[in-house]
Amino acid sequence: MFVARSDEKVLGYLGRALSLELSAVQQYSTQARLVATWGLNKAAASLQQEAEEEMAHSDRIIERMLALGVAPGSSQLRPVKLATDLSGLLRVNQQFEAEIISLYSAATRHCSTVGDHDNRVFFETLLQEEQQHLEQLDNWLQKLQQIPEKPQQRNPQPVRRNRRMR
Ligand SMILES: [Fe+2]
Ligand SMILES: [Fe+2]
Repeated sequence: MFVARSDEKVLGYLGRALSLELSAVQQYSTQARLVATWGLNKAAASLQQEAEEEMAHSDRIIERMLALGVAPGSSQLRPVKLATDLSGLLRVNQQFEAEIISLYSAATRHCSTVGDHDNRVFFETLLQEEQQHLEQLDNWLQKLQQIPEKPQQRNPQPVRRNRRMR
């Protein structure tokens, strides 16, 4: 049986953060698959990498919740937001990152106010990582406006080796 050892507000922030992080995983991995169908292989790899980073954030939040004596039970996924081109997708993602930044800012402020050092450091670290994500997105979008990514040919299927061949 779990025993809660943290204030309800911190648990609320963790629950909302997990919902947003898991929604980010769904959004970025869907977008990665979508841009791959447009032949934008580099963008697909970057979006997939972002999805993996958000999955790692989700893992850290789950770990923290367990350490605080609660199990995640009410995560809600947001519908995936798409667009008709890469710039449009990145703009959607900027909004997403801005939202999670404001959540982590509020959580960090709350923990500072109540003197919860451990959770403050936890949220602050995530906040800094999301601020970096947003910065990377801003740079990517800016670069894209100067040099649009061109569709590439899909990777050819790997040649199967015939075992009987020498
Ligand atoms: Fe994240
Ligand atoms: Fe992020």
